[in-house]
Amino acid sequence: MKTIFDIYSMDELETVLEQLINLIKNGISADLIKKKMKLEMIDELIDIAKARIKNNKISEKLFYTTSDLRFATPEIVADYRAKRLKCNAIADLGCSVGLQSFAFAKKCKKVYAIELDEKKIAYAKKNADILGIKNIEFIHGDILDKKIIEKLDVDVVFCDPERLPAETERTIETIQPNIKKLMELYSKITKNICIELPPQIKSIPFDCEKEYLSVDGALNRLDVYLGSLKTSEISVVTLPTENIITDRMPSCDVNKSGAKKFLYEVDAAITKAGLLKQLLCSLKAPEVFYEGKFTLLTSDKKEKSPFIRNSYEYINSCIDDHLTIIKMLRKYDAGSIQLRGKIDEKQYWRLKNKIENSITGKNEFVLFFLENVVLCKKLRDDRKIN
Ligand SMILES: C[S@@+](CC[C@H](N)C(=O)[O-])C[C@H]1O[C@@H](n2cnc3c(N)ncnc32)[C@H](O)[C@@H]1O
Repeated sequence: MKTIFDIYSMDELETVLEQLINLIKNGISADLIKKKMKLEMIDELIDIAKARIKNNKISEKLFYTTSDLRFATPEIVADYRAKRLKCNAIADLGCSVGLQSFAFAKKCKKVYAIELDEKKIAYAKKNADILGIKNIEFIHGDILDKKIIEKLDVDVVFCDPERLPAETERTIETIQPNIKKLMELYSKITKNICIELPPQIKSIPFDCEKEYLSVDGALNRLDVYLGSLKTSEISVVTLPTENIITDRMPSCDVNKSGAKKFLYEVDAAITKAGLLKQLLCSLKAPEVFYEGKFTLLTSDKKEKSPFIRNSYEYINSCIDDHLTIIKMLRKYDAGSIQLRGKIDEKQYWRLKNKIENSITGKNEFVLFFLENVVLCKKLRDDRKIN
């Protein structure tokens, strides 16, 4: 297969990409660019330029398309995984353009990076050259191919498989390649396997640690660890701070309470992992105000935890009735609101505009639509409160 690297030198590529980036940023359409610049593989170059414009997570001038970027591992996640999976030799199954492999190369002596897509592996090799990485062996082929597996001499296997972009229900069966087959084949060379799975996945039919990664307070990834990599049944890790809660930690009873002085929104990774009881033990005196798709704790004390996503001062609450809500908001001189809770996503802007059109104050609030409507003031990021 002919790639852009067979046609253009690196200098030529960088010059063309810079021109394309400027044209796109100036609003020139892809069709017009193609008419003006009669270049070989122009569609691919435009796509790379678009990906570079979109990207705010890959620092170097690397090669990737918009679709590679969509599934690329953020550097902060790649580095954390590499630290946890540090070993002598690791295989990165389905390496795409190489971002996870590059992080492994910093921690492991040898990395095998395997990819089915010829274009992606060409990009991965070029990206490794750009970064000056020398300890990766790139293999173009199917990760389920026994001839490829036989060649690997590894302590750990990592796989970030393909997920269908839109699915109503995530299951092991729709992931590519077939995870059960992959485990069957690779467990012959090592039991130490780590697989990234969609956090929404309903059931995982094998013995593993489920580690939910939260990046800057938002649920980001689910990694499952098998063999000696497993250190608990379930865990949550915050990035970049690397705080950990696991099912092995002490757990405290969940006491329900009405709203107190403060409300705390628990990191979605804790709710997803079902580790609320363990979190409660690490806090001062919180009780549970609301448990549903998200969890709100309440306390008269200021809580500080890397597992609290947002903190609020409780102001008041009322029944879910438009005129009553407006009366409450006017009392506190509200001018703008954010809505949370049981709201139909499609109705969000209609409801927000309807409410905001009836208030003229200067204060900003958050309204939680729960059993009642709860008015709060968002506090600055509590993970940074002293
Ligand atoms: C989600 S992407 C991996 C992203 C990568 N970890 C990164 O950080 O950029 C999954 C990759 O697996 C590859 N893939 C899927 N099935 C494969 C197979 N049977 N053999 C080799 N690669 C495969 C896809 O082509 C795709 O590039």
